[in-house]
Amino acid sequence: MTRAASPDLPAALRAALEARLQGVSRNEAADRAAAISKTYREGGGSAAIASETDALAYALARMPATYAADVASLNALADIRPDFAPKSLLDIGAGPGTATWAAAEAFLSLQSFTLLDANDALRRLALDLLNDGGRQITYERGDARALLAKAEAADLIVASYVIGEMGEAERTSLAALMWEKTRDTLLVVEPGTPAGYARIIALRQQLVAAGGHVAAPCPHGGPCPLTPPDWCHFTQRLQRSRAHKQAKGADVPFEDEKFAYVALTREPVRERPSRVLAQPAVGKAEVRAKLCTPGGLEVTGVPRRDKAAYAAARRWRWGDAVGLN
Ligand SMILES: C[S@@+](CC[C@H](N)C(=O)[O-])C[C@H]1O[C@@H](n2cnc3c(N)ncnc32)[C@H](O)[C@@H]1O
Repeated sequence: MTRAASPDLPAALRAALEARLQGVSRNEAADRAAAISKTYREGGGSAAIASETDALAYALARMPATYAADVASLNALADIRPDFAPKSLLDIGAGPGTATWAAAEAFLSLQSFTLLDANDALRRLALDLLNDGGRQITYERGDARALLAKAEAADLIVASYVIGEMGEAERTSLAALMWEKTRDTLLVVEPGTPAGYARIIALRQQLVAAGGHVAAPCPHGGPCPLTPPDWCHFTQRLQRSRAHKQAKGADVPFEDEKFAYVALTREPVRERPSRVLAQPAVGKAEVRAKLCTPGGLEVTGVPRRDKAAYAAARRWRWGDAVGLN
């Protein structure tokens, strides 16, 4: 059973995060969030997250956006595979448990959740937050590859904003291991930057060569038709809560998270819908849309005189799969 999940944090998670803010200085949390973001921008990864306050600051500042990107990717997967009903999840580099929360919302069929991560502060926060949600979960601490080698295979494996923290050799061997442990579907989500896209494309190529089938976002398993400076990415809008705005020192009540992703399956998917690669331009005479189609890249004009097609194309959004049915 699947349904489109909301990109905004579930109420239980938001409440659990806010409860943990009691007794923590908002200024200190905002300062730590800013310091952690700076370390990230400089390529330092999550090693800067060392204390309980660090973990909370990171979760307040980043979890809403990575959650929104995970949900958007999982919704796209569920859209392509409406019958997919995974029972077990492996969340690789789980951090505060973002992808676990997102997958639980997107796939109500999930019953067992195994999270793996090296960071103890994030692990402790994740366990606290997930316990508030009343779920049965296992969270192992250590190196992702070592833990994964011993883990049981899962129906769905998700690695959200993780592979960018690794060097190329580690990333390649983790990708192979994740695929080995994937019973049905592997989803990898990265920031929607040219570098994040390049990592997704490299992993996609590696795992297609290993027998994987691309379920989303691409309508084919061949080479990506985009050429630099263009790159495949999507965007998801999310609402910012008061605590989120404080943690980011921001006033705007929403943000747009750019992300790149790939979902690979053991079996080929039946449908091959085209993917909308940018927000279509709706004009009086036509809707102009950039599509990735099974035959390659196309800029399509859907004329107003073709009433039904025009009405359908007016509803197209960046990231949608179009041409289903
Ligand atoms: C940017 S955070 C993302 C956390 C979470 N997946 C999310 O989307 O919010 C990256 C996570 O990957 C973990 N990580 C990076 N390299 C790792 C490794 N080799 N083994 C285990 N965990 C790793 C970090 O500890 C961190 O929690």
